[in-house]
Amino acid sequence: MSLFSSIFASKKNSSQDLIINGNIPKHVAIIMDGNGRWATKRHLPRSAGHRAGVESLREIINASIEIGVEYLTVYSLSSENWKRPESEIKFLMKLFLATIKNELRLLMEYGVRLRLVGDRKSLPPEVVEAYEEAEKKTSENTKLNFNIALNYGSRQEILDAFKILGKKINSGELNIEDICIKDLSDNLYTKDIPDPDFLIRTSGEHRISNFLLWQISYSELYFTKVLWPDFKRKHFIKAIDEYQKRNRRFGKL
Ligand code: IPE
Ligand code: IPE
Ligand code: MG
Repeated sequence: MSLFSSIFASKKNSSQDLIINGNIPKHVAIIMDGNGRWATKRHLPRSAGHRAGVESLREIINASIEIGVEYLTVYSLSSENWKRPESEIKFLMKLFLATIKNELRLLMEYGVRLRLVGDRKSLPPEVVEAYEEAEKKTSENTKLNFNIALNYGSRQEILDAFKILGKKINSGELNIEDICIKDLSDNLYTKDIPDPDFLIRTSGEHRISNFLLWQISYSELYFTKVLWPDFKRKHFIKAIDEYQKRNRRFGKL
């Protein structure tokens, strides 16, 4: 029985009824998209959609712990999102700061380890400080590895890894012929984090938008029309159920 059918067969929704059968993706990555459209549909400012998105994230973190997902990586701000109006960026920065300050206690209570994935240089120092403090405080937690991609861009990440390797070649520390795939992986922001097994994108867009290009080589992709602020535990369970029906071959027969 798949995870989804086992939950619905039970007709209850409490975690005790959740029959967890093997095939849970170890690492789930999510492109949390559709906040703006969610708000516009309700004649609200886009900021209301971003706020509502935080609620969904809290629920999905809980669901991940409940189901036994080990790594959850969420796309919160892309390096391309700086092209948005300054007022939206300013709002988002305030929201990122307030959220980590408000939620740190819960992360500790739930045993969540937080990691910031992205280019820290052009983020406001107070945001970086707050997230770095949370990284330190939560570093011993083991229930869930929660990675937040903030000011993240995959092409830049790969380019930066190339530069690090290039310097090592120049200094003679590395021989060009010896460079292997692991050398590149080990110089990405996501070093020490396994590749995602499952990538979810909400809001009906069928694109990757510069997210984890290297890391999702063999991830299963899942697209849903549900807008991120509407994406809740039941949608997540449904997505995981779909994952469990996939046949991952990695090139084999
Ligand atoms: C995703 O929602 C959140 C961020 C990119 C920060 P959007 O803000 O992209 O919402 P839509 O896609 O415009 O509806
Ligand atoms: C991707 O969503 C980035 C995040 C969800 C943080 P966008 O809304 O920025 O992507 P595009 O512009 O539709 O490709
Ligand atoms: Mg969007």
